[in-house]
Amino acid sequence: MNQKNKVFIATSLDGYIADRNGEIDWLLSLPNPENDDMGYKEFIAQIDALIMGRNTFEVVCGFDTWYYEKHVFVLSNSMTEIPANFRDKATLVKGNLNDILDEIHEKGYHNLYIDGGKTIQSFLKEDRIDEMIITLIPYLLGGGISLFGDLTKTLEFEAVDTKIFLNTIVQNHFVRKR
Ligand SMILES: NC(=O)c1ccc[n+]([C@@H]2O[C@H](COP(=O)([O-])OP(=O)(O)OC[C@H]3O[C@@H](n4cnc5c(N)ncnc54)[C@H](OP(=O)(O)O)[C@@H]3O)[C@@H](O)[C@H]2O)c1
Repeated sequence: MNQKNKVFIATSLDGYIADRNGEIDWLLSLPNPENDDMGYKEFIAQIDALIMGRNTFEVVCGFDTWYYEKHVFVLSNSMTEIPANFRDKATLVKGNLNDILDEIHEKGYHNLYIDGGKTIQSFLKEDRIDEMIITLIPYLLGGGISLFGDLTKTLEFEAVDTKIFLNTIVQNHFVRKR
């Protein structure tokens, strides 16, 4: 069975996914006159479900509209239940990442979108990320929530594609070399 864990995320030039206040307004307010989705629809079409960290889940719950057509698994050891109005859209998961993945695969979800900084870092620590599409916004935020963190070994990726959007945003697609 083909099972892949994929990242699709935007970072600042200095590698942050949110600013010092945990905000992403610098990202949401990017001038984008033709609403270019920068490959998001094409990416999400290949995805069966998402796994996102609690912090990212809390951010997206606060948006005016629910963003995802695919089911969301929320990683949290502190939440006891998904808020009532999101229960048809999201499921709480906790525990060991490899066990969580087995459980999600058994439910028939094989290609997974992994989202949230700490969450992506945990998956990388277990070497369970297969692809990363990283959209680089040319702002230096000077601090914030990092996409990457410590690892105990080097993980080698191959760059398979680069695209430029709006003449200013570079998107790189990396695949784990195994
Ligand atoms: N730039 C972008 O494209 C982009 C994309 C996504 C998110 N964001 C931003 O990133 C921020 C959230 O990222 P984040 O790094 O703070 O956190 P996150 O990965 O969204 O959430 C982390 C939380 O998930 C829970 N968790 C449970 N098991 C875990 C495990 N094995 N590994 C990791 N987390 C686990 C923990 O919550 P408990 O304490 O409940 O256990 C942990 O505190 C938000 O500001 C969001 O807006 C930006």
